[in-house]
Amino acid sequence: MRRFALVAIIFLIAGCTAIRQQKSMPAKSDNLEFHNLQVLSPNMTHDELIATMRGYARSLGTRCEHCHVQTATEPREKFDFPSDAKPEKKIARTMMQMVQAVNANYISTLPKEGEGPQTVSCATCHRGHTVPEKWTPPAPEGRREAPPAAQPAPVPPPPPQP
Ligand code: HEC
Ligand code: HEC
Repeated sequence: MRRFALVAIIFLIAGCTAIRQQKSMPAKSDNLEFHNLQVLSPNMTHDELIATMRGYARSLGTRCEHCHVQTATEPREKFDFPSDAKPEKKIARTMMQMVQAVNANYISTLPKEGEGPQTVSCATCHRGHTVPEKWTPPAPEGRREAPPAAQPAPVPPPPPQP
């Protein structure tokens, strides 16, 4: 009986790990109406897909038609969502793969401190703009210097090397 309990616990732990790994791809699938998912998991539910799309739109400060071909506006908006005709949709796929790679291959390898590393999302860079704003860090306070590109500012001492 004891051994059974132990085996059960091991399976439970293994199961939890598996569930954690698959959090983005739950087993249930009700999105059989989607036919052109090349980056997102085809196991995504309808609600998850729409929530993801709203997230993209909000992160870029835009709406569905920025990436999707609109086929009607009256009496209500209609879209050809599977169509890849708009270049923005293809760029978005590249961006999605970039974000997945950054999080999976780099951010996830950082040491966990406090709440652990943040993850990079579309909003990290886009912040409500279709093309991220250019931003140059201001010169340190009290100094009047040309922007770094024109005349490099004095470099602070390098961090101690391991
Ligand atoms: C920044 C670009 C972008 C925006 C904005 C966007 N989408 Fe998408 N959408 C995509 C990309 C890219 C895919 C394909 C994903 C893939 O290949 O895995 C997609 C796929 C879809 C699909 C699945 C189509 C199919 O059958 O394959 C639906 C439905 C959809 N989007 C709805 C929406 C809705 C609704 C909105 C507005 C709330 C929206 N999208 C906003 C980029 C976008
Ligand atoms: C590391 C920063 C970064 C992240 C994260 C990022 N982007 Fe971008 N994105 C850019 C930059 C920079 C450009 C402009 C590229 C250029 O100048 O051609 C861009 C351009 C785009 C464009 C084309 C520009 C336009 O007019 O629409 C789309 C669409 C886009 N990103 C979607 C996304 C989506 C969706 C995500 C999240 C899955 C995302 N981006 C995440 C940096 C980022």
